Amino acid sequence: MNTQKSNRHWFSLLLVIVAVTTTIDPFIAQNTTTYVPAENILLNCGAPSGKLYALDGRAWGGDIRSSYAPAIKNTVSAIPSNQNSSIPTVPYMTTRIFKTQFTYTFPVTPGRKFIRLYFYPSNYTNLNFTASNSSFTVSVGSYTLLRNFSALLTTQAMNRDYMTKEFSVNVSSNTLNLTFTPSSAKENAFAFVNGIEIVSTPQIFNGSDIFSQPLIVGTTSTLTIDEHTALETVVRLNVGGQSVSPVDDSRLYREWDDDSPYIYGAVVGMTYPKDPNVTIKYSDTIPEYIAPPVVYGTARSMGPNASVNLNYNLTWIATVDAGFSYLVRLHFCEIINPVTKVNMRVFDVFINNQTAIQGLDVITYTNGGGIGAPIYLDFIVFFPNTSASSQQDLWVALHPDISSKPVYYDAELNGLEIFKLNDSTGNLYAQKLSAYALRHWRRRQKLILQSSVSSNQGRVFSISEIKTATKYFSESLVIGVGGFGKVYRGEINGGLTCVAIKRGNRLSNQGAHEFRTEIEVLSKLRHRHLVSLVGYCDEKDEMILVYDFMANGTLRDHLYKTQNPPLTWKQRLEICIGAARGFHYLHTGAKPGIIHRDVKTTNILLDDKWVAKVSDFGLSKVTPELDCTHVSTTVKGSFGYLDPEYFWNQKLTEKSDVYSFGVVLFEVLCGRPAMDRSLPEEQVSLSNWAMHCKRNNTIDQIIDPNLKDDVSPDSLEKFVEIAEKCLANQGTERPSMGDVLWNLEVALQMLSNAEKGESSFDPISTSSREGMMSSIDTSEDSVFSDLRSPRG
Ligand SMILES: *[C@@H]1O[C@H](CO)[C@@H](O)[C@H](O)[C@H]1NC(C)=O
Ligand SMILES: *[C@@H]1O[C@H](CO)[C@@H](O)[C@H](O)[C@H]1NC(C)=O
Ligand SMILES: *[C@@H]1O[C@H](CO)[C@@H](O)[C@H](O)[C@H]1NC(C)=O
Ligand SMILES: *[C@@H]1O[C@H](CO)[C@@H](O)[C@H](O)[C@H]1NC(C)=O
Ligand SMILES: *[C@@H]1O[C@H](CO)[C@@H](O)[C@H](O)[C@H]1NC(C)=O
Ligand SMILES: *[C@@H]1O[C@H](CO)[C@@H](O)[C@H](O)[C@H]1NC(C)=O
Ligand SMILES: *[C@@H]1O[C@H](CO)[C@@H](O)[C@H](O)[C@H]1NC(C)=O
Ligand SMILES: *[C@@H]1O[C@H](CO)[C@@H](O)[C@H](O)[C@H]1NC(C)=O
Ligand SMILES: *[C@@H]1O[C@H](CO)[C@@H](O)[C@H](O)[C@H]1NC(C)=O
Ligand SMILES: *[C@@H]1O[C@H](CO)[C@@H](O)[C@H](O)[C@H]1NC(C)=O
Ligand SMILES: *[C@@H]1O[C@H](CO)[C@@H](O)[C@H](O)[C@H]1NC(C)=O
Ligand SMILES: *[C@@H]1O[C@H](CO)[C@@H](O)[C@H](O)[C@H]1NC(C)=O
Repeated sequence: MNTQKSNRHWFSLLLVIVAVTTTIDPFIAQNTTTYVPAENILLNCGAPSGKLYALDGRAWGGDIRSSYAPAIKNTVSAIPSNQNSSIPTVPYMTTRIFKTQFTYTFPVTPGRKFIRLYFYPSNYTNLNFTASNSSFTVSVGSYTLLRNFSALLTTQAMNRDYMTKEFSVNVSSNTLNLTFTPSSAKENAFAFVNGIEIVSTPQIFNGSDIFSQPLIVGTTSTLTIDEHTALETVVRLNVGGQSVSPVDDSRLYREWDDDSPYIYGAVVGMTYPKDPNVTIKYSDTIPEYIAPPVVYGTARSMGPNASVNLNYNLTWIATVDAGFSYLVRLHFCEIINPVTKVNMRVFDVFINNQTAIQGLDVITYTNGGGIGAPIYLDFIVFFPNTSASSQQDLWVALHPDISSKPVYYDAELNGLEIFKLNDSTGNLYAQKLSAYALRHWRRRQKLILQSSVSSNQGRVFSISEIKTATKYFSESLVIGVGGFGKVYRGEINGGLTCVAIKRGNRLSNQGAHEFRTEIEVLSKLRHRHLVSLVGYCDEKDEMILVYDFMANGTLRDHLYKTQNPPLTWKQRLEICIGAARGFHYLHTGAKPGIIHRDVKTTNILLDDKWVAKVSDFGLSKVTPELDCTHVSTTVKGSFGYLDPEYFWNQKLTEKSDVYSFGVVLFEVLCGRPAMDRSLPEEQVSLSNWAMHCKRNNTIDQIIDPNLKDDVSPDSLEKFVEIAEKCLANQGTERPSMGDVLWNLEVALQMLSNAEKGESSFDPISTSSREGMMSSIDTSEDSVFSDLRSPRG
């Protein structure tokens, strides 16, 4: 009976082959301007060599006598006994069964790959293997993709007959070894697989420019997904549309499912396709391989009724394994006519009942792309192991955000992907982690904190959380000591997030004031070039501030008295520009503006990408708006950086920060401290000495010797010119921080022109002697129109 069935089956299989081979090979017909994977391997396990075509037209090669499986010892090629015409013949109608460990070896190019494994757990004709006896491990290099895996139990749980598992792994060498190992825990267990697919992909998980890294939900921190991260796809949904078969994907052969089974509750919103005259506009940051047009071209919104929408959350739920972190990727695109402008549809996104992003206006995020321009946002959520259940629900919910009074009280989504991230030991399989494994995993996660996009106010920490984070204020974690107290490196969010923890000296009154100022300033301001406050703790007389951790320390750490390699001229310019942006934002972005009062190279921090961030706002002051033009105050600040006008007259304005920043610029140029008492008297103060050398035309003699080769003379001249202006005796003669920023950008532009070998035309230097600042405006529209004006 079984034999008859399988004969019939082989016959229909042959029909499929004949039918498809007469049509054009689908690979040749496809658009060659889109991404073309270097590898696109389809291995039909247990089948004879030669190609068999699946129903979607893709050609699969058998593994018998395949070069990927040179010696198939102790394996069996089998046909499932349970024939069912609703199950696709390729690749499910043949199986390779492994009684002992077996490795397929695929020669590949290095890079990220999708690995897809196809399983049809059935009993096998004329053999003693029954599906329930299969239990096995699958690994690739150091990653364990599956362990103690029972395809039968898994398909039964999904209420399906067959299944695909998709993984994304980065391969660093030229071979990909895929190993199947029967479980030793189970007697006579065997491993099997019906099909293996390997497709090269671009580095699709390294973040878009909107969020350069995925945000960890509930924090202001981000997680770096790099080549060490392996992922398993949990769900991939074409929201508001039908399922998309692999051949209709943008060459990565992903399957996108209909989202309706994942919607929670009875209110499901409404689905709609794009207007016919809207095209999906891809870009360098969002290329077509991120998701195909058919995904961005359909969406689900909350519906037409604003009052209904305000009373519910449009929610999707997926089941995930506890003990892992998940990457949640949300795809958005405005595709129908009324929603074409900013502030028409604005909404909040919640993940696991926490705010992932507030006030999302898709049109704004397209950065000018407008209707038809897709975006995606990445978030990370962690599901701790709990005793309650090894399976948990991941919630994604949308709700209108009416705070900006948008035209429509609505929300929408076009695509949703959820991926499980590997744990420390490279595992993706679900199993309760031991305490050891968890600790190890935390250490391994490469966590780097970056500028925040969240509007969350600082979080309040308990003292016990802080003690856990700093291992009871362990001296080994001290990364700095300042006037306020010690700074520790710590870990929060169960080890997911690395932070800098500043603990104030409890006895100091001044400390208490600075502590409050810092919290007030930083909880109001968020900027790429200001360090972010994660939160604080003021329990039991403690004054503790928790910041994003800056991997590359202070600017001073890279200038002198250091083991670090010297910074290039370009790096120095970029860091100064970043810091100037931060100070410019402080002066003008906040209402009323804020004077930092302690501008120095140790208060300019550098993250892992060398992005400069202004820190330490304990001394900062709000600028007066109405009553007078300066703040009268007792003089605070650091020696060597102090504005003489402020010092003598106690008149504090933004120009005091400009003066100190001038000292910073010379410190960066000369690679020496602002005050160096070991030098002859006339050289002790850098600001005095630099001004003297400028007047005596000997600036070139005090430049950091590490610099001389890579400096272009005109950019250097521009830099010195602006630094000198900052040090003018009278505040009124000094440029604003915006002017400083603008001129530093000009200097950087000159350097890059020099590097490109172009003659650099400086519209400013010709007139600079007379009035540098007035000449800037006329130049904005011409030569440097690509530079952003600080006044813009
Ligand atoms: C190929 O793709 C490019 C860019 O996406 C598009 O402009 C072109 O029309 C496509 N050609 C075909 C034959 O589909
Ligand atoms: C064949 O598969 C379909 C769907 O997978 C299922 O509903 C049906 O019961 C199966 N038939 C047999 C004979 O197993
Ligand atoms: C496989 O065989 C076992 C016993 O021989 C039987 O209980 C089971 O139902 C069969 N499974 C399938 C999927 O046909
Ligand atoms: C199946 O198992 C039985 C008992 O273990 C054995 O007698 C028989 O020879 C086996 N058949 C095959 C085909 O291995
Ligand atoms: C393997 O799974 C079975 C249940 O399917 C379980 O009883 C057993 O403990 C697991 N073994 C390991 C090593 O996890
Ligand atoms: C893959 O396996 C082959 C044969 O065992 C071995 O020579 C090779 O080093 C392995 N490659 C990797 C990347 O593990
Ligand atoms: C399959 O599993 C059953 C129950 O665990 C066992 O009795 C049987 O011997 C196993 N069959 C093989 C071929 O190992
Ligand atoms: C699409 O057509 C509608 C109606 O004809 C028009 O109002 C709209 O401007 C068009 N949109 C685009 C992007 O061309
Ligand atoms: C979110 O809130 C709902 C309703 O209060 C609750 O049922 C659900 O369990 C929560 N989900 C998570 C992941 O906390
Ligand atoms: C939507 O979800 C958020 C987060 O879970 C919750 O705070 C809010 O109350 C929900 N709103 C409605 C109307 O259910
Ligand atoms: C800068 O930070 C990156 C990322 O943490 C690190 O790899 C690099 O070594 C750091 N460089 C220096 C000079 O500290
Ligand atoms: C001023 O410049 C002259 C000539 O370049 C040089 O000889 C002299 O040492 C300089 N004086 C000081 C104090 O640097």
